[in-house]
Amino acid sequence: MADFRRFGRIIQGCSATLTMRLYALIAAGFFALLAALPLAAVAQGNPLGLNAEEIRLILRHGPWPAPWATDASNRVSGKPAAIAFGEQLFFEPRLSGTGTVSCATCHVPERNWADGRKLGVALGEGDRNTPTVLNVRYHRWFGWDGAQDNLWAQSVRPLLDAKEMGASERHVARWVRGDTALACGYRQAFGQAPATDDETLMIDLGKALAAFQETLVTGRTLFDDFRDAVARNDWKAAAAYPATALRGARIFMGKGNCSLCHFGPQFSNGEFHEIGIPIVRKSGGIDWGRYQGIKLLRASRFNLLGTYNDDKTQATAQFTRHIDLAPQTFEQFKVPGLRNVALTAPYMHNGHLATLRDVVRHYSEIDLTQLHQAHIYAGDVYAQAVPTDSVLQPLKLRDAEIDDVVAFLETLNERAPKRFQRSAKVIKNKC
Ligand code: HEC
Ligand code: HEC
Repeated sequence: MADFRRFGRIIQGCSATLTMRLYALIAAGFFALLAALPLAAVAQGNPLGLNAEEIRLILRHGPWPAPWATDASNRVSGKPAAIAFGEQLFFEPRLSGTGTVSCATCHVPERNWADGRKLGVALGEGDRNTPTVLNVRYHRWFGWDGAQDNLWAQSVRPLLDAKEMGASERHVARWVRGDTALACGYRQAFGQAPATDDETLMIDLGKALAAFQETLVTGRTLFDDFRDAVARNDWKAAAAYPATALRGARIFMGKGNCSLCHFGPQFSNGEFHEIGIPIVRKSGGIDWGRYQGIKLLRASRFNLLGTYNDDKTQATAQFTRHIDLAPQTFEQFKVPGLRNVALTAPYMHNGHLATLRDVVRHYSEIDLTQLHQAHIYAGDVYAQAVPTDSVLQPLKLRDAEIDDVVAFLETLNERAPKRFQRSAKVIKNKC
């Protein structure tokens, strides 16, 4: 309408005759009527032509940020002093055995808290791609194989890994006790002097690191605006969502079956599946994925069934108590969340695919003979590449459809990324 009024004024400016003004008025009325027509359509359905099932699926991928409660397994979860202490630890190279690498070496704030490499590299090159630590507060399992069931145990794992930070309980515990500022940070976070037992102290550092990481959440996206507009029945606002992304969303949630695994506000069911990514490690041998992850998780003293869980009711341990080392867990990896996914190439547990287009093409042309089945041979379990019952089928998407899915995935990027600023609340030596 505003445009048309301007058009009317232009006409008036050009010619002052009464007839012209009359024509302009008639034309204005006609265009106003045209503009009102889609509104009438909204009353009956919606101008985007989404059916009830599509609307239901779109709504399931929000709201964002999703509600979150502090972690009962971590007594300092959500505590400001622990968050500040955890932030300091996250950027602290002295935590590593050599004093040269920190968590931020691989989880780089400017790279969406990942590293842009195929495989994580700190003191050595690892076997897996570095996932982002954004939105980890919503996860149930940690690591590509879910070898940890809580964020604090996941946060001490790299400290002890020779290829990551190459430290030991001894090293980190002595260092925190011996450094007045850090011991002070610990005291402020935990309300007591650093524990005398090395392992207990190291786990507490994990808990402070977890408290900090719980604050790292991706911002609102174009998709969230669209989803909320649909929820409000505000079709005018929903129409601002790019047409190509909308077509992609329909493939993602419809014939592409993507949202069978990538669903919910994080675009992940939080569980494990196999999608036919090669499993031979660069350093040799096979990455057994979830099968090995379950074994490691069960064997870990730091799981939620152990004594370091601050939730004495152990309600937090219910999922760990019921995991099953089933043969189909072979070669399964955690379904990654897809928020900001366009910023974290390369993709998959081993960085096997370089671009989002490659990922969508992988699903489009998936070779079902690359999916594995577990067998027991002479008492030993092994995996063989044979077609399994799978929800995955080659989608045979046209190039334009692949473009649409990629365009949709790009609308999961936060709209107004905020540059991460180190907190001004650095730990001061004032205990
Ligand atoms: C060598 C680079 C490297 C360093 C240094 C590193 N990480 Fe990681 N991080 C990784 C990789 C690779 C994974 C995936 C591990 C796996 O699947 O086994 C990971 C996984 C994680 C996860 C789980 C994310 C998820 O989606 O499951 C968290 C949380 C995490 N790291 C936090 C930390 C913290 C805290 C530190 C510092 C104490 C740290 N990382 C240091 C590379 C690194
Ligand atoms: C059967 C469950 C399942 C389905 C269906 C599925 N995915 Fe995935 N997706 C996964 C798993 C598991 C991974 C990680 C696999 C790995 O690393 O080996 C993954 C990885 C990805 C990644 C890489 C993310 C990253 O950070 O590395 C993208 C992007 C993705 N999927 C998009 C899609 C799209 C698009 C579709 C539909 C065409 C789809 N997925 C269908 C389970 C699924």
